[in-house]
Amino acid sequence: MRPKPLMANRVRRGCMRFESIKRSGGPIALGPPAVYPARMAHARPLVFGIETSCDDTACAVLDGEGRVLSSVVSSQLVHRPYGGVVPEIASREHLRNWPAVSAAALQQAGLELSEVDAVAATRGPGLVGALLVGLSLGKSLAFARRLPFFGVHHMEAHLYSPFLRVDGSPAEPPPERFVGLVVSGGHSLLLEVEGAGAQERITAMAETRDDAIGEAFDKLGKRVGLPYPQGPKVDALAESGDAARCPLPVAARGTELFFSYSGLKSQALLVLERLRAAGIDTRPRVLADGGFELAPEVLDLLAGFRAAAVAQLLDRVERLHERRPIPLLAVSGGVAANRELRRAITRWCEAAGVELRLVPLKFSGDNAAMIAWRGLLLQSSGRTTDPLLCEAQSRIPFYAPAGP
Ligand code: KG4
Ligand code: ZN
Repeated sequence: MRPKPLMANRVRRGCMRFESIKRSGGPIALGPPAVYPARMAHARPLVFGIETSCDDTACAVLDGEGRVLSSVVSSQLVHRPYGGVVPEIASREHLRNWPAVSAAALQQAGLELSEVDAVAATRGPGLVGALLVGLSLGKSLAFARRLPFFGVHHMEAHLYSPFLRVDGSPAEPPPERFVGLVVSGGHSLLLEVEGAGAQERITAMAETRDDAIGEAFDKLGKRVGLPYPQGPKVDALAESGDAARCPLPVAARGTELFFSYSGLKSQALLVLERLRAAGIDTRPRVLADGGFELAPEVLDLLAGFRAAAVAQLLDRVERLHERRPIPLLAVSGGVAANRELRRAITRWCEAAGVELRLVPLKFSGDNAAMIAWRGLLLQSSGRTTDPLLCEAQSRIPFYAPAGP
């Protein structure tokens, strides 16, 4: 018999990023003061980063050595009643959030807008209406002030984010060859990076054939009845479950290297239906402190799902390593916050003798520090973008030029 009491499992809501600005429709409230070393001696150029590809409005300032002088993220909670991101609402929220978020990023860095030397903004992939807001603001700023501009590929920014540091020290220069595991709401990617600067080549070694891993977490969480955003809640609740009691299959090992999460998601939803048919109340109960409690069988299902989802990532990394040894693995994207993934990948890298860079939790979800950092890396190889030619794109291949 399971020793766990039925009502003992809780997850705290709202464990948002430290200095994030939260808004749920009311007035914008600034979070606690930043810990950044404002007014420090920084190395030029100072890059202003902007990210609005989905539901986070973010601005950041980095100095020329990749020190994060400020990083402000406003997560849009207005999508909550809909269970997922509503594109039109996201665009409007970006417009509303921009003045406060950009002002906070400059203030926390101890800078005036006139001191900024370059601008980097996400150009895609993402929701076009949402991208257009930040990209247009960034392009206008660069054009009006005659500043160098960088149109940044969102996934390339995630890819390099594990080299950022949270303690105010310079970013680590990325090595000449490494592999990136980039896992988010829209992508599951194994990317091989060779060369740096103008010689940089990014090759996708594995992509998803159907759902992205974060999407599968979100959809299962939504069906369980958890509010948006579901991925972090599924992860936190899975900590109280027992994966061994609900083993789910890891997607097939073929000769080709690819990810697939729709089969696992369907299996998990089937188990959920069976639990309901067996008379188990699978709905979450909201506790007075904002946490959730779930029946033990549902917690086991979430743990089993998480274990299989992470096992698939490890399987693909391991198989790539067998083919061509990975010198360093950089793990990034929103799902890189997953507790099980962080534990499992750390163990695997130690056993395999692979160097690991796990993105700091602060920079795993969407943020503008990674956009400014990618801008800096592009700048070091002279790859500026003409702001007049840079367009928002919902899909972009890696390494595609930012203008015609
Ligand atoms: O990188 P990101 O912030 O945005 C995209 O570029 O998609 O990733 C967001 C995704 C969402 O699907 C969210 O549910 C998922 O990352 N996520 C998690 C966790 N934290 C965020 N999934 C599983 N476990 C987590 N701890
Ligand atoms: Zn992202």
